[in-house]
Order: sequence, then structure tokens, then C-alpha cells
Amino acid sequence: MSIISDICELSPGYVRAIAPYQPGKPITELARELGLDECTIVKLASNENPRGISPKALAAVKLALTELGRYPDGFELTQALSARLAVPMEQIVLGNGSNDVLELAGMAFLAPGCSAVYSQHAFAVYPLATQARGARAIVTPAKNFGHDLNAMLAAVKPDTHVVFIANPNNPTGTMLTAAELESFLLRVPKNVIVVVDEAYNEYLDPLLRCPSIAWIERFPNLIVTRTFSKVYGLAGLRVGYAVCHAEVAALLNRVRQPFNVNNLAIVAAVAALEDADFVRESYELNVIGMKQLQDGCRSLGLEWIPSYGNFVSIEIPRSGGNGTGQSQAGAVFQKLLRKGVIVRPLAGYAMPDHLRVTIGLPAENARFLDALDAVLKG
Ligand SMILES: Cc1ncc(COP(=O)(O)O)c(C=O)c1O
Repeated sequence: MSIISDICELSPGYVRAIAPYQPGKPITELARELGLDECTIVKLASNENPRGISPKALAAVKLALTELGRYPDGFELTQALSARLAVPMEQIVLGNGSNDVLELAGMAFLAPGCSAVYSQHAFAVYPLATQARGARAIVTPAKNFGHDLNAMLAAVKPDTHVVFIANPNNPTGTMLTAAELESFLLRVPKNVIVVVDEAYNEYLDPLLRCPSIAWIERFPNLIVTRTFSKVYGLAGLRVGYAVCHAEVAALLNRVRQPFNVNNLAIVAAVAALEDADFVRESYELNVIGMKQLQDGCRSLGLEWIPSYGNFVSIEIPRSGGNGTGQSQAGAVFQKLLRKGVIVRPLAGYAMPDHLRVTIGLPAENARFLDALDAVLKG
């Protein structure tokens, strides 16, 4: 055995067993591989805001560039969130993206000998946060691609410490109603942490949003997570947060790195939070883009999973046409790449027939639909 194998075996088996996260293909890498000009590539693979960072947030970042010699202080952002959400500052935990707070929940509440429940096709970070702690994953079958809350409830065991719920979920785009979620919270054992991941909350029609933050008073086992990566356009800066009971927050803070959110992310998030016009325009652009993609799919004769996020998962028909042939989604993904269009294949989510497409700018959506049309015909 080589020394490197000995070294790797020092890592617990449950860490070595983790399937690595597959990020969307970077534009630079595809440009290099295919000898394409980066400007001609359309990336609709990581559910970012196609408008990028808001001008106000960018201005705040530029101003803060002179302050980078100091360690960050999350006070101002926590205070801004506290005012916006009407919760005390002690109930807010900042994260280096909401991925970070999901991991903090795993670090604080999971360990070998206990379990976490999440749904089939749920966001990829839940298995990572569970397995990295050596906890057992209990994965419940999805219902129409969405979370089956009754199955999740039935799956909760005496050793279950955490249930992860994405609302809306990525990559399916499916949504749970406030009534469904509230009924789950009422029925789940009170000593089980329920993480409700609302990364796409701001893309929901306001009438469909859950009063999840207000629920925390009634359900001290509830952790709500949100992000600045999506509608706020700050994916590259990495900032998200959790809202929960103050004592739960204190536990998350114990395992949090003291300076986990950097200076630029903090000032950008404060500015982005105040830029209501940017958020509204981004929401409206998403509504228009969603319709454009759905209309496009309809005219190509394709089916998709109705989505409440800033992306849609489209079913690529199998070869043979009667659903029994081979999956074509992987091949279609590769052919789209060769046309300079990056989307996300979902075989890793046990959805081998779907491609997930982020809603882009109207011209990007049109470019994707044209490329898809050409690939399917060709
Ligand atoms: C459901 C869901 N939760 C959380 C995240 C994490 O986002 P971030 O770490 O950028 O806040 C994502 C990102 O795609 C997501 O889709």
C-alpha cells in the first residue's frame, strides 16, 4: 500500500464515502475546452441571478475595498436583517452562503449514531451535511418530484435529529404550501430540528410565501435558511443566513468560524437588502423568463416540472419515444455544451431524464431554446 492510501485512510470511512458535489461547468473551462470565445457562452447552470450584482451593492463593494485589512464584523448585516425580518439579532446566524448555515446545522446537531431525514431529489448539500458528520441518511421517496411530507414524517426515527426541507426545492422547483408545512411542524416530534431551506423564497409569488420566520416563536425546533446568492445577485460573494430560536442560534454559533462572512459580502448584502427595485425587477424578469422557457418547451413538445424557483427542469424524451429506450438527457447536455450553452444534467439527483435550466436574460433563454431545438432535431 502506498503512503498516500495510508494517509487517506486516516479520514473516517463516512467522509471517504461522500460523493463529491458536482458544480455547474465554469464558462472559462468550456471556452478553453472548445476553443470558444467566453462572451459567446451562455451559462444557465447554477441558478444565479442573470442580472448579476445590483449597482448599489457593487458601489458598496467598491467603497469597502479600502477596508480589507480588517477582520469582518457582521453586526451591521445582522442588524439590517433583524430590522427587516422583525426578529432579535440573537436569532440570526450569518453564513458563508446558506450552504454554510446548512452545514452548521449538521455540525451542531448530527453525529455518528443519529440520522437526518430528507427527500429523494432534494438539494445536494443535505446528503453532504449528513454524511460529513457520520450520521445516517434516511431518504424518503418523492411524490410528483416534490417532498412527500407524510412519508418524511413516517420516516422520522427515535435517533432522528434533523429533517431537511427545501421550499422551493432545487433541482425540482417544487413547492410546499404554508398549510402543508405548518401541519408537518405540528406533527413532527418537538425535539427534532426542522431545517426549512428558503434559498428561492424571494422568487415565490408573495401570496405563496410561508410565514416561516413568524413560526419560529411557536416551533423552537425550526431553522429557516435564506441566501443572498439568488434574487439578490451575490452568489460569488457567498453570504446567507439562518433564523431560529436564540438558543439554537447560540449552538450554530459555537461551530461557526468567527469570521465566516467576509467584509465585501457583508457590505454588499446590506446594500442589496435595501435595493428593493433591483429585487422587484429581478423577480419580474424571472416571471417573464419562466413563461418564455415554458412556452418554448411547449412548442418543442417537451414536458417540464412546474417550478417555483429561478430554474426549470425539463424532461428530455428517451430514445424510441415510448419511454422505454435509453436516456438522452446526458447526450443532449453534451451537444448543448458544444453549442456554447451550459445547463445542468440531473443524473446525480436520480433524475436521468431531466436537464435543469436556470432562467436567464430573454436573449439567453432564446439562445438556449434555439440550441435545444437544433440538438433535438439534429
Ligand atoms: C435549495 C438550495 N439551498 C441552498 C443553496 C445554497 O446557496 P448558497 O450557498 O449560495 O447560499 C442552493 C444553491 O443553489 C439551493 O439551491
